Amino acid sequence: ESLPDILCRMPKAELHIHIEGSLEPELIFALATRNNIPLPYPTVDDLRAAYAFTDLQSFLDIYYAGAGVLQTEDDFFAMAWAYLKRAKAENVRHAEIFFDPQTHTERGIPFATVINGLDRAVRRGREELGVSAALILCFLRHLSEEAAFATLEEALPFRDRFIGVGLDSSERGNPPEKFARVFARCRELGLRLVAHAGEEGPAGYIYHALDLLKVERIDHGVRCLEDPLLVARLAEQRIPLTVCPLSNVKLCVFPDLAAHTIGRLLAAGIAATINSDDPAYFGGYLNENYLATFAALPDLGAYEAYRLARNSFQASFVDESVKAGWI
Ligand code: HPA
Ligand code: ZN
Repeated sequence: ESLPDILCRMPKAELHIHIEGSLEPELIFALATRNNIPLPYPTVDDLRAAYAFTDLQSFLDIYYAGAGVLQTEDDFFAMAWAYLKRAKAENVRHAEIFFDPQTHTERGIPFATVINGLDRAVRRGREELGVSAALILCFLRHLSEEAAFATLEEALPFRDRFIGVGLDSSERGNPPEKFARVFARCRELGLRLVAHAGEEGPAGYIYHALDLLKVERIDHGVRCLEDPLLVARLAEQRIPLTVCPLSNVKLCVFPDLAAHTIGRLLAAGIAATINSDDPAYFGGYLNENYLATFAALPDLGAYEAYRLARNSFQASFVDESVKAGWI
């Protein structure tokens, strides 16, 4: 079996996918028409042509604008259902899916509309596709601590529909400590904890996510390599990193995939995983991330493929008994 076949066919989990980042330009146009929302781009191709990012913020601006077409529960369902069908086709057995409620509640969309639509897709995915999926609520770190607490309050009536919380959006200037009290409360509530750290922000933000927020996984985390002591700690404590290679290139964290350090992370003993982040914006879903990364890095072979897939299941938040059946 060829390496590309192995990569596509092997069972895997996806742990870093923003559902709003799976919104394809075609669906943006369809929802804009259905909901009578004007778009600043005349055609799908014009919109796609705008996906030329220079850094995280240049992406976020267009990503939040795209999410503005989502209005009804059915819209949120359609977005998540399209992702889950794609996941199934790529042999993703389990997905832990981020959603950004504040992107919608700030526009006047009720929290219930968002979570009811997403939850309906997650349930149907389990039943009809055999894909296990769960939701993780992300706080937008460019907004205030107070706004995060208010979002948590709104979410609590739906506590059984999401398994944990994360932290995303503009990293630089919005360090983990801004949300230490919110995460402490989430921890008391028994929620699983993750945070984006060390994507654009410094390695110090990874320490703070671990020590102040007490997260169990780090999203991205690639800048840990600037600090050998941190690398040793991540390896020793088996703290998983959800790495997103195509995202890193599109947002200019690395100049190209050949310069990506996923191989170094694995060689250092870190439980790194491969993920798609925002596949509709970054040029590929999960298998495309595996294929392009392995094509660009000749040191990666079947052994690394197996380790990455195994890491993805081990780093997931499913029950240990379920995990044992997968690994
Ligand atoms: N980083 C921070 N926030 C995000 C990202 C990301 O890669 N994708 C969607 N929101
Ligand atoms: Zn992300």
